[in-house]
Amino acid sequence: MIFPSALWVWFLLFAIAKLASEVVTKTLAHHHAGAAEIPIESDKVAAAAEGFRICRCRNTAIDRCKDSGYAALMESYPMLHHGRPGPDYDASFWQALHTLQDRIWPQMSARIEAARKLGAHWEAETVPFAWVEEGRALAHVGVIAHPLRLLGEDRVVAGIHAVCVDPEARGRGLGRRCMEAALAWIDERFDLAKLSTAIPAFYGRWGFSVVPTHRFIAQRAGGGGPARPAILGDTARIRALLSARTPTSNVYATRDPGWLPIIDLALQGRLPDGVLMVPERDFLIVARQQEDALHLDDVVGPELPALEEVLAAIPFRFERVIYGFTPDRLDPAARAEQVPLQEGVMQVRGAWPKLPPFAVSTVWEH
Ligand SMILES: CC(C)(COP(=O)(O)OP(=O)(O)OC[C@H]1O[C@@H](n2cnc3c(N)ncnc32)[C@H](O)[C@@H]1OP(=O)(O)O)[C@@H](O)C(=O)NCCC(=O)NCCS
Repeated sequence: MIFPSALWVWFLLFAIAKLASEVVTKTLAHHHAGAAEIPIESDKVAAAAEGFRICRCRNTAIDRCKDSGYAALMESYPMLHHGRPGPDYDASFWQALHTLQDRIWPQMSARIEAARKLGAHWEAETVPFAWVEEGRALAHVGVIAHPLRLLGEDRVVAGIHAVCVDPEARGRGLGRRCMEAALAWIDERFDLAKLSTAIPAFYGRWGFSVVPTHRFIAQRAGGGGPARPAILGDTARIRALLSARTPTSNVYATRDPGWLPIIDLALQGRLPDGVLMVPERDFLIVARQQEDALHLDDVVGPELPALEEVLAAIPFRFERVIYGFTPDRLDPAARAEQVPLQEGVMQVRGAWPKLPPFAVSTVWEH
């Protein structure tokens, strides 16, 4: 009886195939559970098949989010939010993010508001990668595109900033999750990434290595010059000078047309008076006085003035100058001194060029 025995073979083949498919499904499920790392806390979470969702602004995914009520969606699932910023991005998302940032860095949102008065909008430049649960942002990694002068060349590098996780949510893999999403996005767009940090070991696992930075010192005295602290009425002039600026150094200098220095000054609580306006001259100075030293953080104008002109404008007395930027164009004789690692380090990922000693101004960091 040929026919019944063929049936038997078919049945056996079917059973083997079914068993194999179950093994594969279980293995994948196990693998996925491992990859998700997020404890499943509710049916809603389980319903979000992958344990997380990615929303992208200005593409269909975000449009769907907005159509279905973005804020409501934020309440529903733990999600990895990745959005191109801008006014069309839901305000409740930014609010959640600023609430998290204020927990880590008190006053941060008030300072971001101070920058807004000078026309620098946080939301306009940073690309956030954030983990949100029940409407609360628990983790964040921000990325900006930072134009730089690097060893005579103009480059745009990815600047990672404002990395933070809610203290109650640390150790759950959320920082890693946001970093990895940010790096995947960066790797499609940039060949270099950089950041400043006090915890280089955290970033080392993703190939970030420490690059020593310096400050430059010169024995030069002066004071009694006409520069005056800026007021809000100087905003248009400040912005015009920033957007027309020449790079302060050919080794390493920001080419950011305004956002970064204004945000940095705001975050350091130095706006607007940390900017010194020089009457009747086409440049401004960012400077601080500390004991007998003039800390020169930036000189901004369409042409770089001569050193004598800059020093002659400084209103307070000083016996020496500490340059926060590389003074190769302003004062090449200044002496380089490495910034101690415990003061924080710069880390880079990608083909970073070999640079001579260079400095990164506190108003160019991110
Ligand atoms: C640093 C911070 C972002 C880590 O977030 P987190 O969600 O707790 O980190 P994760 O759970 O994703 O940890 C990922 C890995 O980093 C390690 N890690 C966490 N914090 C670390 C730290 N401070 N230094 C070095 N490694 C760290 C974890 O052990 C883990 O390693 P593993 O994968 O080998 O087990 C978080 O502690 C934080 O917000 N700190 C305060 C703000 C801050 O310092 N930000 C950085 C400014 S540049």
